[in-house]
Amino acid sequence: MSAGRLDWLAGQGAALRGEIEVPGDKSVSHRAVMLAAIADGTSRVQGFLEGEDTRSTAAIFGKLGVRIVAPSASVRVVRGVGLHGLQAASGELDCGNAGTGMRLLAGLLAGQAFGSVLVGDASLSRRPMARVIDPLRRMGAHIDARDGGLPPLIIHGNNVLQAIDFELPVASAQVKSAVLLAGLYAQGETRVREPHPTRDYTERMLSAFGWPISFSPGQARLAGGHRLRATDVDVPADFSSAAFFLVAASLVPGSDLLLRRVGMNPRRTGLLEALRLMGADIQEQSPGEQGGEPVADLRVRHAPLRGIAVPERLVPDMIDEFPALFVAAALAQGRTVVRGAAELRVKESDRIAVTAAALQALGARVQETPDGAVIDGGPLRGATVDSHGDHRVAMSLAIAAQLASGEVRIGDCANVATSFPGFDALARSVGFGLRPAGAIG
Ligand code: S3P
Repeated sequence: MSAGRLDWLAGQGAALRGEIEVPGDKSVSHRAVMLAAIADGTSRVQGFLEGEDTRSTAAIFGKLGVRIVAPSASVRVVRGVGLHGLQAASGELDCGNAGTGMRLLAGLLAGQAFGSVLVGDASLSRRPMARVIDPLRRMGAHIDARDGGLPPLIIHGNNVLQAIDFELPVASAQVKSAVLLAGLYAQGETRVREPHPTRDYTERMLSAFGWPISFSPGQARLAGGHRLRATDVDVPADFSSAAFFLVAASLVPGSDLLLRRVGMNPRRTGLLEALRLMGADIQEQSPGEQGGEPVADLRVRHAPLRGIAVPERLVPDMIDEFPALFVAAALAQGRTVVRGAAELRVKESDRIAVTAAALQALGARVQETPDGAVIDGGPLRGATVDSHGDHRVAMSLAIAAQLASGEVRIGDCANVATSFPGFDALARSVGFGLRPAGAIG
């Protein structure tokens, strides 16, 4: 968990120029450690995200008896213990700020012979877990939570899990993945169907680790009783981290920025389509493949943006990018309407309310709706705003500050380290005006 309080002072930057590579994908890093831990043999994970969320997951497997070493930064060598080789931890398992960690682990730990207790930080302790508890209970798991299905989660051991055919009530890759991971330990064939296809890293990675699985957009099926084979994983750069620079360079006049080897899984790149509809100038160059995932270099140049009605079909494919999209909309010409995005209210913060309040303080015209917002573009001014400890809100407000007429103080930014350690230094290196409050110069 982040140490202490950190505020940023942001604004008055230069045109954004240069070539950068953002850190490894968070979703892929979590899954790589999880599957490597319960595989037979030793796996090497390259490009592992050195964020607090993913480090929490690695530390949890250490407590469960898996030897994980870090020969250098962004590399983990995981000595897998096999499907049934995990051991009971002596204390609670701390997922920190990570919803992905807690929800996927709930599925994986539901199939163990021993019990576990999953805890998280203040933000994670407010996030809904009934969405994973309900299907896992249907599979035969015994899980207790606080009233309202909130963490901590007490997962009892020695359950005989049965496969289910599960239709997800919300489009959630975390819920889908929890059910599939429990399905590894279940008798029979587990099936999940989604109202809208979500990121399929669990399915792809299970297949790469040798588990028979059939999947296509919106559905996946697997049976219990197989084994995972150790596999090396090469993690691509995180599109969600690249997203802040795509928005910033689109907005700041004179910008011309190259983002190298960005993961381009189509279930992640909805923001690219939304920004292009708004008039952004983003080119995909040198397309290739890394660790079984499509990657490309993205060249983004400043272009005037105009407001749009964000197509609802894009929402799951850009679910983590709305704070940045709100900033783009607040600085675009005309009106942007976001609908069908109620899930934003149960992320690391209520991202609709928190982003809207901060942008309003900067002078933006933002009207919240239950499942989105109506945003009218216009000039922004300096002010003191609060990210409420939400990493993606903090980074998005740092973008807004580059275009504000005065300096912006952004409160509670330490959690940026959960997904994007070193964001402020990298952002400064391409021209952002951004520094920790209290630092000189
Ligand atoms: C994730 C799925 C999404 C996303 C999160 C990572 C994953 O959450 O917001 O940052 O790795 O599966 P939901 O499944 O709650 O939509």
